[in-house]
Amino acid sequence: MSKHDPRRARIAIIGAGWWSTQTHLPTLLANPYAEIVGIADLNADKLRAAGSAYNINSLYTDYRAMLDAEKPDGVIVATNHLAHFDASREALVRGMAVLVEKPMVLRAVEARALQALAEQHSAHLMVGYPWHFTPQHRELRELIAAGRIGQLQMVSTLYASMVVEFLRGNPQSYQSVFNYPVTGPTAATYSDPRIAGGGQGVLQVTHAAALLLWLTGLKPVSVSAFMERHDLRVDLCDAITVRFDNDAIGTIASTGNIARIQTDNQRLDYRLFGTEGYAMLEVIEGTASVYTNDGAIQRLPLTPPDNRYPAECTSQHLVDLVLGRTTVNQSPASVGVRTVELLEASYRSATEGRVIRVDEL
Ligand SMILES: NC(=O)c1ccc[n+]([C@@H]2O[C@H](COP(=O)([O-])OP(=O)(O)OC[C@H]3O[C@@H](n4cnc5c(N)ncnc54)[C@H](O)[C@@H]3O)[C@@H](O)[C@H]2O)c1
Repeated sequence: MSKHDPRRARIAIIGAGWWSTQTHLPTLLANPYAEIVGIADLNADKLRAAGSAYNINSLYTDYRAMLDAEKPDGVIVATNHLAHFDASREALVRGMAVLVEKPMVLRAVEARALQALAEQHSAHLMVGYPWHFTPQHRELRELIAAGRIGQLQMVSTLYASMVVEFLRGNPQSYQSVFNYPVTGPTAATYSDPRIAGGGQGVLQVTHAAALLLWLTGLKPVSVSAFMERHDLRVDLCDAITVRFDNDAIGTIASTGNIARIQTDNQRLDYRLFGTEGYAMLEVIEGTASVYTNDGAIQRLPLTPPDNRYPAECTSQHLVDLVLGRTTVNQSPASVGVRTVELLEASYRSATEGRVIRVDEL
């Protein structure tokens, strides 16, 4: 600990399941600027397992009791999606900084309410999107903001990922891929539509859409979507068409049905076309290039394989925001809100068979 940073951020975690035990707990324990002051989970078995794996004794089955007793500076909300809103609200009204896992929340009104609460209580609110911390993505975002490819006219994203067994309620079948250090996800977390709020959309399109909106600054205005469940209870394949502000239009296509054997060959592809040029980004391969109308091609530095999913960056950023070590929130609520708007409009459009305007939500 440096002399210039005498205090550590006191962080509490709500939800002691797979993602907390795989990522947030080990990352915080390795961070000299952080102290874990408590973990809460409704499920006493999961709570005990997480506590004993990481030698943490401050355990609560009621997160409100934890917030009142431990008075943390920052709170990580890593529960199932349905519980994100209440847990984040309880922390924000106590003036605590919040990192809420994706998909932030399930409804646009809830997302806007959390953003307003954060502003009202001057509390940081960030959403758990690791790809906003990839240096190459930050460089591309700055180039687009500086006008390198002009005004965006058409954008296209494809995300093909390996989550079908999560959506089927069979997370153990990915044991050999993820090597769950303590526990895998609860079966219902990603497969029960009432708890998850959906399938591929809320689990994966949320990442793809948030990165698109963060890279470009675009705001969705209206949405038309088809979604197919196939043999699942939640959507597996999504085809979404969006009208953005400033006359830009675009598509987001996604499937969760990539096989385990191809886990290294998932795809997350962006094609962003503007009046002065276009940009290509392939996140899984780590490549990005900018082609401009003067004939130039700028290839951004390759993202090294080990940095292509910087999962540890979100909780590190929460700590840095709490301590004032950084002042710019790289994964702000504003992007979370626009992402929830896009997703809620997509689900409603697929269900109602019509174009949904974001201002209806
Ligand atoms: N950013 C990423 O790459 C990434 C990866 C995986 C998961 N996630 C997100 O992390 C979150 C957790 O996912 P997971 O895979 O760890 O699921 P999980 O099912 O393993 O864990 C969720 C835990 O929350 C607990 N919980 C539910 N309601 C609660 C409440 N009211 N109070 C306290 N605890 C409660 C459950 O008992 C469960 O143990 C989800 O939002 C998920 O989308 C993000």
